[in-house]
Amino acid sequence: MIYRNWQGTDIPALGFGTYELNNEDAANMVVEAAKIGYRHFDTAQMYHNEEGVGRGLKKSGLARDDYFLTTKVWFDQFQSGDLQTSVMESLRKLDHEFVDLLLLHWPNDDVPLEETIAALNEVKNLGMTRLIGISNFPTALIEQAVSLTNIPLTVNQVEYHPYLDQSKVLESLRERDMLLTAYCPIARGSVMKDPILKDIAAKYGKSPVQVTLRWLLQQDSVMAIPKSGSPKNAAANFDIFDFELSDGDMAAIKGLANPDGRLIDPSFAPEWDKAA
Ligand SMILES: NC(=O)c1ccc[n+]([C@@H]2O[C@H](COP(=O)([O-])OP(=O)(O)OC[C@H]3O[C@@H](n4cnc5c(N)ncnc54)[C@H](OP(=O)(O)O)[C@@H]3O)[C@@H](O)[C@H]2O)c1
Repeated sequence: MIYRNWQGTDIPALGFGTYELNNEDAANMVVEAAKIGYRHFDTAQMYHNEEGVGRGLKKSGLARDDYFLTTKVWFDQFQSGDLQTSVMESLRKLDHEFVDLLLLHWPNDDVPLEETIAALNEVKNLGMTRLIGISNFPTALIEQAVSLTNIPLTVNQVEYHPYLDQSKVLESLRERDMLLTAYCPIARGSVMKDPILKDIAAKYGKSPVQVTLRWLLQQDSVMAIPKSGSPKNAAANFDIFDFELSDGDMAAIKGLANPDGRLIDPSFAPEWDKAA
């Protein structure tokens, strides 16, 4: 496993995503993922599977100190009071006393960011989470969030894969001693069919998905959370710690980025950074 050390906390850089798994599938897959070796799990209020993820973690037999658990507050819970109550509800569903990382799922310009960040700081001070962060924040909003928080932010979770240039966000996060967690890290499976990734993968005896995940983790400050509902794919996605991509292959994969590469762009999305 590769770890990111953030101010003394070691975080497994490869996590297990759970979006679109229902409670039952999430519980089963978390048990499988734990057997494979995953020690970092990602859920959210909006996934409606916190109960399943929590149940899977208990059933896995892993000690609480041995895994890293993230959940996210949905943006309709960003007013002070609502946020705190929603996190209590998340902890009840997860059947956990605290999570390791709590994220604001998407920016919401209907609620002052100052109010939301203050509530996020409060739940951290109450011990409901060990670390706090943001998700889907472009550079202008990262700057604002960092300026408003009393407690350092650990992570910005954003879409990142070979087809999407995130160099501006990554540079901004590194300057602020923050980490980037890549969601949709394998572009929802579409990297499988990429001829350039196939060629690179063949050289290492790996698949395009494995090469893509390796490419993400070979970048400083980057973590990745591929999702799978299949034990076979989840195991393949974890089998990336026995090879290293050359600088030339790292650059070739970076070159696959294109202006239409973004997959997740809902109507409530913020104004994204333009590609570098
Ligand atoms: N913060 C946010 O706003 C946000 C947004 C989106 C996602 N996320 C998080 O990031 C996680 C990952 O993103 P994602 O689920 O959207 O996309 P993803 O991980 O890029 O792709 C998941 C898709 O790839 C397939 N897949 C997985 N491993 C594979 C393999 N080895 N070979 C072939 N296909 C494979 C999966 O199918 P099978 O299930 O059949 O394996 C699934 O269809 C989510 O689960 C969630 O935790 C966060």
